[in-house]
Amino acid sequence: MNQKSHLIFTLYTIYGILLKVVASKGKPRGISGQYPLVQNMTVTEGGTVTMTCRVEYNDNTSLQWSNPAQQTLFFGDKKALRDNRIELMHASLSELTISMSDVTLTDEGMYTCSLFTMPVRTAKAYLTVLGVPEKPEIDGLTKPALEGDQITLTCMTQGSKPAADLRWFRNEKEVKGKQHLNLNVLLHHCYGSPQSPTQ
Ligand SMILES: *[C@@H]1O[C@H](CO)[C@@H](O)[C@H](O)[C@H]1NC(C)=O
Ligand SMILES: *[C@@H]1O[C@H](CO)[C@@H](O)[C@H](O)[C@H]1NC(C)=O
Repeated sequence: MNQKSHLIFTLYTIYGILLKVVASKGKPRGISGQYPLVQNMTVTEGGTVTMTCRVEYNDNTSLQWSNPAQQTLFFGDKKALRDNRIELMHASLSELTISMSDVTLTDEGMYTCSLFTMPVRTAKAYLTVLGVPEKPEIDGLTKPALEGDQITLTCMTQGSKPAADLRWFRNEKEVKGKQHLNLNVLLHHCYGSPQSPTQ
């Protein structure tokens, strides 16, 4: 080998090592990438969620989705749990996708996709269900107050998950940073003249 060809050989060797490093970084760990892959999901109460489980490489092994109570929902394209809300979207060796409609707060939890290799490999996806708050209501405005009175106004809503972010507005301008507000301020600015104690 002369010096020039030796240099080229060395460069090719380095290039080859670099290619291997790059290639191994792009692959999931472990044997041939035969792992189920899932993602956490978030859905609003009453909505529909799609759950996808993928396998990069699969040698004919079945995929399964199961719910937080560890009941099987789908085994491949076969439906296991009687629940009209759950439907098959796509079933192949590389993917098992199902959907669940009319989601309720009780559907929240950890769902599992299993790949029936030896041993079984699983991936877990957490389903977060957001509660839709009801229209907020104000309590404490039962009668007109007199100047100098102290009243308590309470703003409430139900069904929100996570807890609702309630805010007070006065003439469409937000009242910030105060838990307790002075009556006069509220009556005068928030509810305007019809409820003013001076009328
Ligand atoms: C995959 O499994 C099916 C049924 O379980 C079988 O008919 C088919 O021959 C299998 N293919 C391979 C490549 O093992
Ligand atoms: C999925 O949700 C679980 C439970 O909340 C959490 O521990 C995990 O880190 C989440 N995974 C991703 C990729 O966000």
